[in-house]
Amino acid sequence: MVQTIETQNLTLSYGDSIIIDELDLEIPKGEITVFIGGNGCGKSTLLRSIARLLKPKSGAVLLEGKAISKMSTKDVAKQMAILPQTPIAPEGLTVLQLVKQGRYPYQTWLKQWTDEDEKQVTNALKATGIEELKDRPVDSLSGGQRQRAWIAMTLAQDTDIVLLDEPTTYLDMTHQIEILDLLFELNEKEQRTIVMVLHDLNLACRYADNIVAIKDQKIYAQGKPEIVINCSLVRNVFGMECEIIMDPLLGTPLCIPYGKGRCILNKAGTMIGS
Ligand SMILES: Nc1ncnc2c1ncn2[C@@H]1O[C@H](COP(=O)(O)OP(=O)(O)OP(=O)(O)O)[C@@H](O)[C@H]1O
Ligand SMILES: [Mg+2]
Repeated sequence: MVQTIETQNLTLSYGDSIIIDELDLEIPKGEITVFIGGNGCGKSTLLRSIARLLKPKSGAVLLEGKAISKMSTKDVAKQMAILPQTPIAPEGLTVLQLVKQGRYPYQTWLKQWTDEDEKQVTNALKATGIEELKDRPVDSLSGGQRQRAWIAMTLAQDTDIVLLDEPTTYLDMTHQIEILDLLFELNEKEQRTIVMVLHDLNLACRYADNIVAIKDQKIYAQGKPEIVINCSLVRNVFGMECEIIMDPLLGTPLCIPYGKGRCILNKAGTMIGS
């Protein structure tokens, strides 16, 4: 298996507080990898450090075998784009201006704006369904529209590796599936490597080739959802009891949490009143 991103003995911290401890992680090239884990376990911290937005306390992140700490910012940005968890746009910036920022790594003094830049921006606006919003200020959009504008910026960067921290946040169900399908197609048709954080375990199981479950500063389990997702993982990683059944559409694991709710079945499992 070819590794595109590798972490070696990676320790991440904020001050004295260790978040990720001596992590050796391999992210396979051309696959979809999804980080899962409870709130505060370090998913965003790890993703940010992979994108070189956070300096490790020790250890290294390697991109195609090269330490990213030794690469130029533009070289990193030509190979990977990141959608952070809570991105903030400057006040008044329009959607089009934001998406154009994705082309920054390709601009030089001599080569300012090309047909390729224009094409990538147009494609990204179209793919995320926000062409009509292009002249609106980002800070005037709804949460879901804003999220799609940021995803468009990330896609306009046209990189082999795309990192996304909870890309489906704020999106309605239709747009969640649309965005995940879009990422799936980028992976399938163009062999892009996708690494994302998802909170919806069922969507994670549906789209991931490779799941990385994080707990107690370490990897609790890694591998195909069919192999790693089970009741014991959900109990140990999320502290929740559940049933795992097979998704009737795709065959991937589907997690049904225990908890309260209206019950319309009797003890025999048939509808009450029928
Ligand atoms: N800038 C920071 N300074 C200090 N502590 C931080 C900082 N950012 C995050 N933390 C802490 O580091 C830990 C990991 O945070 P992180 O954002 O990586 O978690 P996460 O797994 O992405 O959680 P969530 O699912 O809520 O997004 C948390 O305890 C958080 O409070
Ligand atoms: Mg996070």
